[in-house]
Amino acid sequence: MTFRARILGAAAGGGLPQWNCGCQNCNLARAGEIPAQSQSSLAVSANGTDWAILNASPDIRQQLADCPALHPTGLRDMPLRSVLVTNGDIDHVAGLLTLREMQPFTVYATSGIHDVLDANPIFSALNEKVVKRATIALEAPVEIAPGLIATLFAVPGKVPLYLEGDTVQTDLIGDQTVGVHLQAGETDAYYIPGCALMNDDLRARLNGAALVFFDGTLWQDDEMVLAGLGTKTGKRMGHMSMSGPDGSMAAFEPLEVGRKVYVHMNNTNPVLRPESDERAAAQAAGWTIGQDGMEITT
Ligand code: MLT
Ligand code: MN
Ligand code: ZN
Repeated sequence: MTFRARILGAAAGGGLPQWNCGCQNCNLARAGEIPAQSQSSLAVSANGTDWAILNASPDIRQQLADCPALHPTGLRDMPLRSVLVTNGDIDHVAGLLTLREMQPFTVYATSGIHDVLDANPIFSALNEKVVKRATIALEAPVEIAPGLIATLFAVPGKVPLYLEGDTVQTDLIGDQTVGVHLQAGETDAYYIPGCALMNDDLRARLNGAALVFFDGTLWQDDEMVLAGLGTKTGKRMGHMSMSGPDGSMAAFEPLEVGRKVYVHMNNTNPVLRPESDERAAAQAAGWTIGQDGMEITT
């Protein structure tokens, strides 16, 4: 069995360009000088025929149109078997609303994430007679498409922005923010698009992994502040940055990982500019910068 992954969207919430953003990267993407990137989603398959989508982004309509492997195979047949959601953030769940045309598939999530979907009646647009909602317990392997086993595990994160109270714990460990371990026969991969920090549990899991897709939201923690785009740091948003002593490049440095791929990049991240020094530095540290349409097979 071969594990196939296709990055449907490599950008974080907002995408590149973001509709209301005049930052350097967004302007370059609008001008066609750097590649645009759509919002966070990964398609995975163990047999090349049946697919699961990890996170349904607001851009899913175009992402599916751009991905021949997910095109309809008959009048109302298509190869999507399930959508697995790793948190309740808008960039990861809003695309479910696009998938409402009476197409059978299963929505997999933890009970905490299902609670968020269930609490919002707009998601009943996914007719429950056709679209099954299945709860996955942490650490319990589930077959999400033929031959493709997913096991969810808690990673440090926070509740969705729209559910934040007056105080927010940004490195909460629970079932609100999860990573995914994917297994197809003898091959495996990890998908962790949001992670507040590297802890011992995560280190132990990822050491020896063949392939990891990891949170690449920001290059540096105060990047959005420095760009004049607001007051939020990466840490406040529940994302560890790429660079710096507590960044993901340093955290992965001692780990044995076959292939490391950044996904969920915010539009301010300089690695989104192909000629940037930061991209060269990440690549020199062994990272691949994910981009829309990139396919990785193991
Ligand atoms: C995040 O990844 O921090 C969220 O997607 C932010 C958002 O909801 O815009
Ligand atoms: Mn996000
Ligand atoms: Zn921007």
